[in-house]
Amino acid sequence: KGKRAFIAGVADDHGYGWAIAKSLAAAGAEILVGTWVPALNIFESSLRRGKFDESRVLPDGSLMEITKVYPLDAVFDNLEDAPEDIKTNKRYAGSAKWTVQEVAESVKEDFGTIDILVHSLANGPEVTKPLLETSRKGYLAAISASSYSYVSLLKHFLPILNPGGASISLTYIASERIIPGYGGGMSSAKAALESDTRVLAFEAGRKRKIRVNTISAGPLRSRAAKAIGFIDMMIDYSLVNAPLQKELSAEEVGNAAAFLASPLASAITGTVLYVDNGLNAMGVGI
Ligand code: NAI
Repeated sequence: KGKRAFIAGVADDHGYGWAIAKSLAAAGAEILVGTWVPALNIFESSLRRGKFDESRVLPDGSLMEITKVYPLDAVFDNLEDAPEDIKTNKRYAGSAKWTVQEVAESVKEDFGTIDILVHSLANGPEVTKPLLETSRKGYLAAISASSYSYVSLLKHFLPILNPGGASISLTYIASERIIPGYGGGMSSAKAALESDTRVLAFEAGRKRKIRVNTISAGPLRSRAAKAIGFIDMMIDYSLVNAPLQKELSAEEVGNAAAFLASPLASAITGTVLYVDNGLNAMGVGI
C-alpha cells in the first residue's frame, strides 16, 4: 500500500520542500502539503494555472499530484495563540484552520493517518543582522518559526503517524560552524533543531516507532535563501571548496529524504545527514 506524506513548507517550486515532495511522489507516496498562509493564494493559483507543470514532471513522465494543500502557520499551535491582528488580517481571515493543531486535525479527518512528516520551513526576521545585533524578539521569532515549529508539528502529527513512519527536517551547517551572514539567531535555531532531532528520535521512537532525522543541506537558491542575501557567494564557495565540485540540486536533497523515509533507512534515527557535496568534511578551503 502506498504511503502518505505531509510536507510543511512548500509555497513554490524552487525550494527543498517541493523537491522532497517530488522524490516522495516518484517513490509512490501520496502528497499533502502545508503552505504558509500569506503565500497560499499565489501558490494555489499558480498550481491551478499550470505554472508549475514543467517542474511537476516525474522521472516516469507523469505529473506529481498534490492531493491537498492545507493553509498553515507553524508559529501558532492553536487559535488561542494567535494575536488579534493576525486573526483579522485579510489573508488569515480568508482561510481557516491554519494552526498546527487544526491542520493535524484536518488531515486526520480527511485521511486518517500519514506515514511521513516533513518540516521544510524556517523564518528569521532578523536573519541579515549579526547575532550581536539581534534583538530578543528577533531571536525568539527565529526559534519559534524554525525550531519549535518542528516540535509542535511532530507533537500534533504523532498520534496519526503510522508506526514505522518517519519524520524529516532540514538544517544547515551554521548550527555547528561559523557561517558569517547567517544571523538573527538562525544559527542558534538550527542548533536547537539538530539537538531536538536526537531527543525527538528517542521520544517518538519509544512512543510510536517513528524515526526522526534531519538533513544538513548545502546551499540552494530558494526564495528563503535569496532573502538572506549571501546565497550566490555560498554556492560559489562550495563549488570551489567542496570535494564534489558541482552545484547541488534540490533533487539530490529530495532523494536523500526519500531514502530516509523508506524502509532502506529502518535503523537510522536521530541523525544529521549531510547532503552538501561533502563540504562539511573540509577543514580549510583550498
Ligand atoms: P523555501 O522558501 O522554499 O522554504 C521555506 C518555506 O517556509 C517557505 O515556503 C515559507 O513560506 C515557509 N514558512 C516560513 N514561515 C512559515 C510559518 N510560520 N509557517 C509555515 N510556513 C512558513 O526555502 P528553502 O531554502 O527550501 O527552505 C526549506 C528548509 O531548508 C528550511 O528549513 C531551510 O532552513 C533549509 N535549508 C536551506 C538551505 C538553502 O541553501 N536554501 C540550506 C540548508 C537548509
